[in-house]
Amino acid sequence: MEKQVTSRENAYELLKEFNKSDSLIKHGLAVEAVMLHFAELFSEKDVEKWGVIGLLHDLDYEMYPEQHCTKAREILTERNWPEDYIHAVECHGWKSCTDVKPEEKMEKILYTIDELTGLITATVLMRPSKSVLDLEVKSVKKKWKTKGFAAGVNRDIIEEGANLLNMDIDYIIDESIKGMQKRAEIIGLKGEL
Ligand SMILES: [Fe+2]
Ligand SMILES: [Fe+2]
Repeated sequence: MEKQVTSRENAYELLKEFNKSDSLIKHGLAVEAVMLHFAELFSEKDVEKWGVIGLLHDLDYEMYPEQHCTKAREILTERNWPEDYIHAVECHGWKSCTDVKPEEKMEKILYTIDELTGLITATVLMRPSKSVLDLEVKSVKKKWKTKGFAAGVNRDIIEEGANLLNMDIDYIIDESIKGMQKRAEIIGLKGEL
């Protein structure tokens, strides 16, 4: 039986075809976990779709960093992915690597939580426990305010995303942590607890 193009299985194979870096694969898995959590939270019809888009959002980054977002469109088009998936992947890089703006709720969530999962991961890895399981919002907020900490994480993007969504940042951080907790082991943030 032919595999469905947009299946999670196919998406994961595609991610591994284009990415050899463990940290990039884990980043994809972390974003997937948070996307799945928000889709469930909002009682979305196609929860898997949210997850798959999270998983694939940085598909082209390892091999084509200079063409990030543009190259992903090319790859996914060649492989017959539907336009709504491609658009969602592409617009996560709004203003940094593409002019395509997040329009759908799913796209706005992806845009907001992409950098945020990076900040949460960096915060967890600084903890003695190396675990996300007992991480609190206030620890992430503290690191948010420390400018030199995880300097590559663009806090302005997270804020802009929260504005697009008209949602409170603390709420988004809290729910993102919960999403990552559900898949702590897979994303390598279970620690020794
Ligand atoms: Fe990206
Ligand atoms: Fe990303």
